[in-house]
Amino acid sequence: MDDTFEIRAQDAAGRIGELRVPRAGTTVETPALLPVVNPNLQSIEPDRFPDFGVEMLITNAYIIRGDDELRERALEEGVHELVGFDGPIMTDSGSFQLAEYGEIDVTTPEILQFQSDIGSDVGTPVDIPTSPDADRETVEADLAETEERLRTAESVDTGDMLVTAPIQGGTFEDLRESAARTAAARDLDVFPIGAVVPLLNSYRYAEMADVVAATKRGLGQDAPVHLFGAGHPMTFALAVALGCDLFDSAAYALYAREGRYLTARGTEHLDELEDFPCACPVCSGHDPAELRSMAADERERLLAEHNLHVSMAEIRRIKAAIREGSLLELVEMRAHAHPALLDGYRTMLDHPAQLEATDPASKGTFFHLSADSARRPEVLRHHRRLERLEPPPTLLLSEAGTDSRFDETWRLKPPFGPFPRDLSTTYPFTAEVPERMDDAGYEAAADGVRRLVEVNPDTEVTVAHRDWPATALEAIPDRVTLENLGQGQDHHRDR
Ligand code: GUN
Ligand code: ZN
Repeated sequence: MDDTFEIRAQDAAGRIGELRVPRAGTTVETPALLPVVNPNLQSIEPDRFPDFGVEMLITNAYIIRGDDELRERALEEGVHELVGFDGPIMTDSGSFQLAEYGEIDVTTPEILQFQSDIGSDVGTPVDIPTSPDADRETVEADLAETEERLRTAESVDTGDMLVTAPIQGGTFEDLRESAARTAAARDLDVFPIGAVVPLLNSYRYAEMADVVAATKRGLGQDAPVHLFGAGHPMTFALAVALGCDLFDSAAYALYAREGRYLTARGTEHLDELEDFPCACPVCSGHDPAELRSMAADERERLLAEHNLHVSMAEIRRIKAAIREGSLLELVEMRAHAHPALLDGYRTMLDHPAQLEATDPASKGTFFHLSADSARRPEVLRHHRRLERLEPPPTLLLSEAGTDSRFDETWRLKPPFGPFPRDLSTTYPFTAEVPERMDDAGYEAAADGVRRLVEVNPDTEVTVAHRDWPATALEAIPDRVTLENLGQGQDHHRDR
């Protein structure tokens, strides 16, 4: 892995990174979306990709190798000339065809050699994408074969071409984690998570989140991670927050062929649109009725252009969010566009320690946007810190002002719970929270109180809350004195 990948900024498990591609003599900023180029048919000429913000693309070495004309041209002119793109090119191996058609006629050493011969910048071994519904025995057997091929890949001399180490293991988290650990120890460069396409196609985002989280545990934080076949922009923010760096999209072109119009919130159909909800050049210059009246190939090209524009725009939005520290707010917003994405987000929040490990101590402003916000890693981090704070003998935890009857008054703010007043101006306590807090926010705050009280048995604690729900108050140990301030009332003295 050495100096192939450098991380520049982080938010949750998401990051902005730089992937060094030595054969191309350049670096690619991540998160990056690589449009899939089918060497046989292109809806957008790849030499126009830079106009969309595309830095790198992916094409299929197996398809090129299987076609006499394409193979000869690729070997003579190189893959860059063949597809018409100057920037870095990654190639896939035919594994996807293997999954679709059951067999292919190429080995890992052969396809890696071919990828190297045609000038690919990032090559891929022939991993086995096992169905997510396969039984454990099948997944284990396929994984053993994939791992054997990665071992072989390590010893093929491919010069300065980067080589990927696809991670398989179905939906068995322990297999994904151990496959990732084994792959990370190899002298390979980029780590795609494989066989997630069937999960993504059927909106199984919760399982995808668990698969990515498990893979990340095995890979560690330094490895560049590609989510193979994840091309719908509605999933990018979630996948990035889980720690994915590279994506490839065939969707921009495939969906266009069927009249489908991508947005960062889902998929629309051209036939059902009155207006285009988008500011890209296609949507600014045309309306849906105009596109419907066009010849099929022109309509398909314009739809593909829009689809690629919105996909790249979502990548830029994600990068801006990471720099600003608002990636989790973006994920939450995207999650609310579809119940299945919400399941994915909630499943991601089942791994708070993993998110917390790389989450910056200080970033923008925490926005509490729903009950789920109470499970964010910042809350977990504060609760752990509460166990290290040293309260005085008598302590008031108050949603209102200070009270001099007590040695100290600490602030009490859902979803975090108690904290010393001098932390009020630091992240995350500057949080914007709704006046109408959800029960989960109160319950998380009560859990903070419980933790503080449990590690400080000699401190006399009083909690002054504003109408907290019973589910929150029940979590507070009996020896704590409870005072209800009621809504808007503040009968504490020294406010
Ligand atoms: N494209 C989509 N999924 C996969 C996969 O699991 N392996 C490879 N090599 N390519 C893919
Ligand atoms: Zn558009």
